[in-house]
Amino acid sequence: MTEGACILGIETSCDETAASVVEWRAGAPRVRSNVVSTQHELHERYAGVVPELASRAHLERIVPVVREALAQAGCAPAQLAAVAVGNRPGLIGSLLVGNAAAKAYAWSLGVPVLGVDHVAAHLVAGLLGAPAPQWPALGLVVSGGHTHLFAMQDPLRAQLLGRTIDDAIGEAFDKAATILELGYPGGPRVDATSDGGDPRAVAFPQPHLTERSTRRATTGAGTDGHARPASAAAAAPATDPALDFSFSGMKTALLYAVRGVPAVPGRPAPAPPEPLTPQRVRDLCASFQHAAVAQVLRGLARACDQLATDPARAPRTLLVGGGVSANRHLRAQLQALAAERGLDLRLPPLAYCLDNAAMIAALAHWRLAAGERDPWTLAPSARSTLGAAGAAGALGAPTAG
Ligand code: KG4
Ligand code: ZN
Repeated sequence: MTEGACILGIETSCDETAASVVEWRAGAPRVRSNVVSTQHELHERYAGVVPELASRAHLERIVPVVREALAQAGCAPAQLAAVAVGNRPGLIGSLLVGNAAAKAYAWSLGVPVLGVDHVAAHLVAGLLGAPAPQWPALGLVVSGGHTHLFAMQDPLRAQLLGRTIDDAIGEAFDKAATILELGYPGGPRVDATSDGGDPRAVAFPQPHLTERSTRRATTGAGTDGHARPASAAAAAPATDPALDFSFSGMKTALLYAVRGVPAVPGRPAPAPPEPLTPQRVRDLCASFQHAAVAQVLRGLARACDQLATDPARAPRTLLVGGGVSANRHLRAQLQALAAERGLDLRLPPLAYCLDNAAMIAALAHWRLAAGERDPWTLAPSARSTLGAAGAAGALGAPTAG
């Protein structure tokens, strides 16, 4: 790492236009500026992100947001060592805007451009401004698009251990809020509405994923999607379903709790649903959140148990990132688990849980220090290269043409 080197990060994968300058200083990535322009107001009436609206808004906002990030950092463009962009996964039209902007800035400044996997970047959000952690680490990404568990040797080498087989946890929170008519984005609203609710009022189902699956194999790719000699990952078996997650059953159970269980011909009519009083909504939010968090904690505990059997992989640190890591109940439970297991928990401050460009620039520092850079054909991709099915598709950053 070059002491004092600054990287401009750009993030446009979904509904946040973000730019940040991150400096490498005293062994850690330090945030000099972190500008996020959220588009929630544009998408709220649709209860979800409308891709076309999102890409247009990115186009309008990207240049002012980058200028603001440079100004707040007190950083002249000529001082930048590289420009990094979250180029996968995400909405392809949105990613294109950030990708094109990053290449244009990098080209005009004569510095390297680096594409970064957004999911991998969430894993290092808890390392911003913090002392270097001890490796190996257990990594958890809980966001609107991902619920992924990783065994990590360092920021550039992660092996996928388990992931959701249907909805991501944040998506489940968002759908729960839609069912309960709490608005968008749902996660923070379910979190806030759970205050005063009884987490045991409704027993939401926990999935039982036990059969070993061969539908996908973990890859030997690094967290930026580039092939690396990751011995553990190279020899990795298919992910263990005991470490997978499933949130769609909980969502259906909530729908039935609110609207009633559908009648089946020839069977006794089901009981009508309880009236949706304000207290009932609070109870449903608290119970839903409790069940979702319990599932994540169960996966983490199982992963700790499995990794503990191999001294080379036994985690010393727990890295957590993604929008759902802002959830108060999850944060409290993670702290308890880390204390119980003797793990150094790196939970990002709220500003770095949600989508931001500081985490993109931070991961790019590790890539740059490893001597990596991407070609000018760097292209965006809707899919993450982390844990993609089949190794071939995961090797190398996507390039155009
Ligand atoms: O990481 P992120 O900003 O974007 C993605 O990469 O998807 O995560 C957004 C997700 C949304 O689903 C949002 O509802 C959820 O994070 N979220 C929360 C909370 N704050 C944001 N979920 C539960 N509790 C929260 N406090
Ligand atoms: Zn994200």
